[in-house]
Amino acid sequence: MVKSAGARILVASNRGPVTYSVDETGALRSRRGGGGLVSGLSAIGDDAGAVWVCAALSDGDREAVRQGVAEPGSRMIAIAPDVFEAAYNGIANSVLWFVHHLLYQTPLEPVFDEDFRAQWASFEAYNTAFADALAEEAAEGAHVLVQDYHLSLVPALLRERRPDLRIGHFTHTPWAPPDYYRMLPDDVAAQVLEGILGADRAAFLTRRWADAFAACCVAVLGAELSEDGHAVTYRGRTTRLGVHGLGADPDFLRERAHRSDVADRIATLRAETGAERKLIVRVDRTELSKNIVRGLLAYRQLLDEHPEWRGRVVHVAFAYPSRQDLAVYREYTAEVGRVAEAINADYGTADWQPVLLKVDDDFARSLAAYRLADVALVNPIRDGMNLVAKEVPVVSDRGVALVLSREAGAFAELGDDAFVVNPYDIRATAAALHSALTLPASDRADRTKRLAAAATALPPARWFLDQLHALDD
Ligand code: F6P
Repeated sequence: MVKSAGARILVASNRGPVTYSVDETGALRSRRGGGGLVSGLSAIGDDAGAVWVCAALSDGDREAVRQGVAEPGSRMIAIAPDVFEAAYNGIANSVLWFVHHLLYQTPLEPVFDEDFRAQWASFEAYNTAFADALAEEAAEGAHVLVQDYHLSLVPALLRERRPDLRIGHFTHTPWAPPDYYRMLPDDVAAQVLEGILGADRAAFLTRRWADAFAACCVAVLGAELSEDGHAVTYRGRTTRLGVHGLGADPDFLRERAHRSDVADRIATLRAETGAERKLIVRVDRTELSKNIVRGLLAYRQLLDEHPEWRGRVVHVAFAYPSRQDLAVYREYTAEVGRVAEAINADYGTADWQPVLLKVDDDFARSLAAYRLADVALVNPIRDGMNLVAKEVPVVSDRGVALVLSREAGAFAELGDDAFVVNPYDIRATAAALHSALTLPASDRADRTKRLAAAATALPPARWFLDQLHALDD
């Protein structure tokens, strides 16, 4: 079915721009989120008639759908809660996320059994619901930008329904190397790749992830890769590969970081850490791939190897709850707390707490920590990009030394001016923390300038528009 009316530009993602909750009086309350897609869509303006298709994530969201409440320009799909749960927690976050971030403890997992097959059927149903909604909303020849691993089957499903559309897919995670990717059952491994190859263009945050995707297409599907490595041909259709390294938004960050609530948080943080002490700052979701525990162990090693830092430095670790429906995330969150406590118990003194761990989400406080950081620790096991690495240098007050994992997508753009670490190597990370803490102020300022320039090379609005325009090439 091709509609004569309908949206000319569509975005699809699991999480939408607004979430709803039901308050004590039974009324619906909405809360707007931020991020690259929100800024991107605002860049094209309201009169572009764009539509954002997303899933109802919570009971509040489902109630909003039931009452027909929707933000202008957005459509929420109410998928049955058990189907959504199996697709989001079961497949997207416990299988695809684990594969792309190399998170399995392989002697015992993954186990692809009958339960997995039932969850996979839900994942197909959830992707089909998106493809149906997009097919319904799109005007003839419309441009559709499908986001992330949750929706990897959508491009092919949508193309079957609407061959007239221009379809792009963007992966926000890393992509697994072929040997690891092939842990997936063969049919599932093929289905995910074929799903994305349904797009005219498949884009990634770095060349490394695009190359890994292409290598999987060759290894699993026997697809053909163009000589320049920028296009994959499979069953007579060619999908172009693109790279758009999402950057930080300097105007937003600098303005937001100088509001009074951030100044209040700076005063509180300084009172908690001591005015003179150096700060090693990290800010993350409590996410398995972020490597918070090894970061703490490296800090402990620093205090052992360089006792001169005791009493003179504080590790400020903000680790906000994430995906707490999953037991492994809850256990990881508890382990972060245990390791931080142990360091404080073993090294703390009457007037010095070595680790300041905060687990409640407070954006103003994160910006305060960004401004104060002497060292920023960004040591993920593997990360699509990592925007914290890009945001800290942009708002830093006195310059910051960045300790950065070579497995973060941001390494491609920031590696030259960072202290680069293998995220598994505690001793090397401790040594990098020491070098970062002792970096002379003038070097720190020079590096920070270059880091901030690289970090803001492709702000969210341009990142989005580039993807959109590239669909026409
Ligand atoms: O990195 C992929 C991603 O989808 C990000 O865009 C986002 O920060 C994160 O995962 C969100 O995860 P969730 O929606 O499960 O909280």
